Formats: sequence, structure tokens, C-alpha cells
Amino acid sequence: MSDIKINFVSADGEKTVTAAAEAGDDLLRIAQVHDQPLEGTCEGQMACSTCHVIVAADDFDKLPEATEMEEDMLDLAAGARRTSRLACQITITAELDGLTVQIPAESRNMQGV
Ligand code: FES
Repeated sequence: MSDIKINFVSADGEKTVTAAAEAGDDLLRIAQVHDQPLEGTCEGQMACSTCHVIVAADDFDKLPEATEMEEDMLDLAAGARRTSRLACQITITAELDGLTVQIPAESRNMQGV
């Protein structure tokens, strides 16, 4: 049963896509299945940062802490913020129901408004 809901907010903040996920999925895969513009070039090898998302402040503490390697990749990600994460490193659990993440504006080459 997929009863975990994940919300993807577009880079301009105007559109939200709610996706159904199952425990054990990774966030990048869910995003791609739902046509979100995350490249995920390295397919989870933590070598690209094109799967960068900005996690809603309220949800950030629900996520396990990023590893040092993830932090290092986020340092290189365009437009990274305090609540940035790599989607490929986030495994969906029941506790993450309602998780909201935003696509970084820079991934579409638009400056944030
Ligand atoms: Fe490359 Fe996540 S897909 S770092």
C-alpha cells in the first residue's frame, strides 16, 4: 500500500505535485516517476548533486542527518540552503508522510523570486 504522501513544490513555488510513496523508496526515484525536474545524473552515487532539493523547514528535522559526504556535495550544489538535501540519499519511511520538498530554482536556470 502506498499511503505515504510526498509533496513536490515547483521552483517558482506555484505548483505542488503530491506523490504517493512506499517505505523503502528513495526520494529521487519518486521525484522522477512524477516528472519532477531532478536529473540525478549519478544515480545515487553522491557524485553529482543534480538531485538537490530544498526540504520544508518543518520537515527537515524528520530526516536522518546527512553524511559528511552528502554535506560536501551540497556545498557544491547551486542555490543550496540550510535545509538542502540530496534526494537520492533520502529513504522514505512512514514518518515522512507529508514531507514537502521544493525543486531549487537554479535547476531550471531561473532566479528565485
Ligand atoms: Fe547524484 Fe544524488 S543522484 S548525488
